[in-house]
Amino acid sequence: MSEHNEAPSLKDVLHGVADAFAGASTVACIIAGHRTGFYRAMAHGNPMTSSELASAAATNERMTREWLDQQAAAQLVIYDEPSDSYALPSTSAAVLADPDSPFWLAGGLVGIHALYLDLDKGIEVMKGDGALGWVDEDASRVEGTQAPVRLAYDHQLGQQWFPQRAQGVEDLETGIRVADMGCGTGYSTLTLARAFPNSTFIGFDLHQPSIEEARRNASEAGLSNVSFEVAAADAISGPFDLICFFDCLHDMGDPVGIASHAISQLSQGGSIVLVEPFAMQTRTENHYPRASLRYAMSLFCCVPCSLAQPGARGMGSQAGEAGMRAVFAEAGLDDFTRIAESPNHIVYEARPA
Ligand SMILES: C[S@@+](CC[C@H](N)C(=O)[O-])C[C@H]1O[C@@H](n2cnc3c(N)ncnc32)[C@H](O)[C@@H]1O
Repeated sequence: MSEHNEAPSLKDVLHGVADAFAGASTVACIIAGHRTGFYRAMAHGNPMTSSELASAAATNERMTREWLDQQAAAQLVIYDEPSDSYALPSTSAAVLADPDSPFWLAGGLVGIHALYLDLDKGIEVMKGDGALGWVDEDASRVEGTQAPVRLAYDHQLGQQWFPQRAQGVEDLETGIRVADMGCGTGYSTLTLARAFPNSTFIGFDLHQPSIEEARRNASEAGLSNVSFEVAAADAISGPFDLICFFDCLHDMGDPVGIASHAISQLSQGGSIVLVEPFAMQTRTENHYPRASLRYAMSLFCCVPCSLAQPGARGMGSQAGEAGMRAVFAEAGLDDFTRIAESPNHIVYEARPA
């Protein structure tokens, strides 16, 4: 597409929209490959015929062949005409087949599926008050929003982001009390509980099904330093030495009131860590093609979630550092520092005097 503020050419618009058509249809096929187990069955990288894949995944051969040709057209699998076979290269496997890979994206695409499942509801709320609570959205929204952040929690949270706090991770290693607000299904809480066994972690979320899943995950993990409670973020009782908001404060209706409440529940010397989706400093800077994904998620998920709650601030995920800094300034806390960032996230620390 064109530079900012210039009208794109007709050719650019046609190509851009045609690429979006192709991309959106490939997303459907990737989700199908994830859910049928095609990628897992091809992860070894050896060539397979459509019959071999159909028998490995227990699917219909003719449908499997059409899926394979779509994936070959999308340049995700390699077709060998003489043997009429297809192979998943290791690069595609890293992105599509292996949930433990730092490059895995297939799980996150489930969130795009949820956008389409909820599209009618999304359009209805656009014509109304904009409110659509987390609990009213399709269940695959939970999987789709939480799968992509898992990579960050696995590979960056304890290793790269937390060491940038003013206190580093020394207090966590010694043993402190930590609240994980809006914890969803508890992946971040469990990751931290595993990494810092001397500290105690409580995950809070107002979405009961997510907390039930978090409890199941905790019991499977066999961790004794973690628990979960259904609670709205402005109803938790401390004191806590550290309060975390991972990818959720912007979803809340009254982030200022919730930040104030969190500040009031900190022990002496305690601090708040926020992980927020990456955003540029200004809206104009945010207007580039990759950010269109973040705005789409924000439009159909973050903004309506916030508008459904008391306060209805509707920050959206793209308010960036200025938006979050303003929330904490309004809550009476100016010691607000950007401590880390990655292509998908910005991490902040807020510390009362
Ligand atoms: C995008 S999800 C993030 C979940 C989790 N922190 C993560 O990073 O995977 C946002 C979460 O915030 C929760 N949430 C939204 N508003 C809330 C509120 N006022 N109090 C507590 N939780 C809230 C939602 O239920 C949802 O689980």
